[in-house]
Amino acid sequence: MHRFLRLSVLLMGLFSAVSSYATDAPQSAPMTPDSLGPLVEQPIEFPHNRHAKDMQIDCMYCHTYARRSAVAGIPPLRKCIGCHQSIETVRETPRIKKLFEYWEGSKDGKIAAKTPVPWKKVHDLPDFVRFNHERHIKRFIEQQNRPTQEACGYCHGDVKEMTVARRSKALSMGWCAGCHEKDHPVTAEGGTPIGNQAYWYSFQKPVANASGSAIKAKGPNDCWQCHK
Ligand code: HEC
Ligand code: HEC
Ligand code: HEC
Ligand code: HEC
Ligand code: HEC
Repeated sequence: MHRFLRLSVLLMGLFSAVSSYATDAPQSAPMTPDSLGPLVEQPIEFPHNRHAKDMQIDCMYCHTYARRSAVAGIPPLRKCIGCHQSIETVRETPRIKKLFEYWEGSKDGKIAAKTPVPWKKVHDLPDFVRFNHERHIKRFIEQQNRPTQEACGYCHGDVKEMTVARRSKALSMGWCAGCHEKDHPVTAEGGTPIGNQAYWYSFQKPVANASGSAIKAKGPNDCWQCHK
């Protein structure tokens, strides 16, 4: 009875959250060609390819919090400036001039000095979903020893090739649960299997912890774990 009550309260909460979410969402926001999310226009087009691929800067050098908190975080302006103030080759390009306007203030006075760049969210799960980077990153990178880009890439696609970050995975409930549920085939919305199943399941293989005992945890499939 107790569990039943808990679940109905959860469901009521969810449905009201869903309906308010639906009414809040702008009806006509342009979507990416594959409808995975809204097309986001950034104040400065940030080239992930030139930083993460050409210069091989680690994803977590910029997204510092991924391994220790729920959010991965967007790097602060001073991190960009720290490097860019000594890079002459691109100092006069329109995008870097704009970057320095946020740092030094714009001549027309419209942007004050040290204004954080107003980056827009590319991924944005509804508020009733709880997602935490830390546990996933610890598992994939620290315990399973996956290369960082591969581990991030599982949920974000091949960001190092992107000239503008954009959503490339569904991030739907079925998609999350597909990886959590051990013998559940990982399928796209229409039921088509996604990618290499054996590879996907390898993310759930038990791994040995420091003391040699196996860590078996796959992700939860209980509603309340993802919808607290
Ligand atoms: C030099 C710093 C830097 C590096 C290195 C970097 N990023 Fe980013 N990342 C940013 C900035 C700035 C943004 C915000 C602008 C944007 O969304 O395009 C961003 C945005 C993102 C987003 C979208 C965030 C959202 O709003 O949903 C993802 C996902 C992401 N990065 C993943 C990665 C991955 C994976 C790597 C490694 C392959 C990486 N980043 C390397 C600076 C960096
Ligand atoms: C580790 C040093 C480093 C950091 C940190 C860094 N950059 Fe860069 N960035 C570079 C270098 C070097 C280039 C030039 C690369 C090239 O010539 O391809 C560059 C190129 C760029 C360009 C393309 C310039 C153009 O128009 O040709 C943009 C935009 C940019 N960076 C924005 C940012 C932003 C925003 C941040 C902070 C989130 C940032 N960078 C952090 C080193 C860095
Ligand atoms: C298991 C899937 C998964 C993995 C692995 C993952 N992310 Fe995410 N990431 C997400 C989801 C889901 C969101 C959206 C969260 C939200 O809207 O509440 C997100 C959001 C982000 C954002 C936007 C800011 C934020 O934290 O909400 C950045 C930046 C980001 N991820 C970077 C990374 C990087 C870098 C890695 C690898 C070190 C990584 N992610 C690994 C699923 C993942
Ligand atoms: C590639 C496989 C994979 C994907 C995709 C994935 N997860 Fe997980 N998740 C795991 C594994 C493995 C664990 C167990 C980690 C551990 O405890 O070591 C986990 C643990 C969790 C936990 C419990 C730990 C915590 O942080 O409280 C939650 C909640 C969770 N995942 C939510 C999500 C959501 C929401 C999504 C989709 C946006 C998602 N996961 C996508 C593999 C995945
Ligand atoms: C692994 C994480 C996870 C688990 C477990 C989970 N959900 Fe979800 N749920 C999500 C995500 C992520 C979304 C957001 C989907 C989106 O934005 O497209 C969601 C959305 C929803 C919605 C909104 C409608 C919809 O389909 O988009 C409802 C209702 C819901 N979940 C109920 C439940 C119930 C009931 C359970 C238990 C049987 C459950 N969820 C288990 C991750 C999870």
